[in-house]
Amino acid sequence: MNNKIEIKKLNLHYGKFQALKAVDLPVGENSITALIGPSGCGKSTLLRCINRMNDLIAGVRIDGRVLLDGRNIYRHGLNVPELRKRVGMVFQRPNPFPLSVYDNVAYGLKVAGISDKDRISQTVEGSLKGAWLWDNLKDRLDKPALDLPLDQQQRLCIARLLAVEPEVILMDEPCSALDPIATMKVEELMLELRKKYTIAIVTHNMQQAARVSEYSGYMLLGDMVEFDLTANIFTNPKDSRTQDYITGRYG
Ligand SMILES: Nc1ncnc2c1ncn2[C@@H]1O[C@H](COP(=O)(O)OP(=O)(O)OP(=O)(O)O)[C@@H](O)[C@H]1O
Ligand SMILES: [Mg+2]
Repeated sequence: MNNKIEIKKLNLHYGKFQALKAVDLPVGENSITALIGPSGCGKSTLLRCINRMNDLIAGVRIDGRVLLDGRNIYRHGLNVPELRKRVGMVFQRPNPFPLSVYDNVAYGLKVAGISDKDRISQTVEGSLKGAWLWDNLKDRLDKPALDLPLDQQQRLCIARLLAVEPEVILMDEPCSALDPIATMKVEELMLELRKKYTIAIVTHNMQQAARVSEYSGYMLLGDMVEFDLTANIFTNPKDSRTQDYITGRYG
């Protein structure tokens, strides 16, 4: 499998505190890679390094490399807004803008200066279809996004990403605010999206990691303890610390 992303010897400090310690992680193209581990081990921090979201936090120091298609995204002169189009992110709480369904999905195109109405509406339709929302919402495109149920809000956030044609989708516990049925729908959607996009997901839900991901990395206190096929991590981990976690003895 081709690696879309390769993280190499990545260190991150928040002030004096080291949150990531020489982390290595490959993320295979058109696959789902899960990051698991107890609270505070650095999963979200690592995910945010992949689209340079940590740049926004004061006092952060990062060294090491994050290669996207073989090129370091921390190189001097990289265009960060362009990077965040290629590498989109979905958060724990759905965060649609206080706009209509249509305007949420059209937002990225308008920001990019696209004004062709037909093109925008085709993209809105395609993106809503891609996030499995079109049938639900096609007659309610003017409805305020914040009035939608949470799972539709989360899929709308996914549609908003799809509209700007990302290559990678980062998901930080995307189902943690959702009930089990909505969670299942989002998981099914992830499996569909994997065919076109590369996905990295943080999850506290080990069943979720087992259901959706091909590869998993187990993190502990800023270290990448073990990275392997998800099936191996859950059935035959090499490191006793991984074993302790997956058998529920820790975290
Ligand atoms: N902005 C910040 N400033 C200082 N320290 C931070 C900041 N964000 C995270 N940390 C610290 O870095 C460590 C890793 O945090 P991170 O949020 O990445 O963990 P996590 O594995 O995602 O945890 P959780 O499962 O609770 O979401 C923690 O000790 C946390 O307190
Ligand atoms: Mg987190």
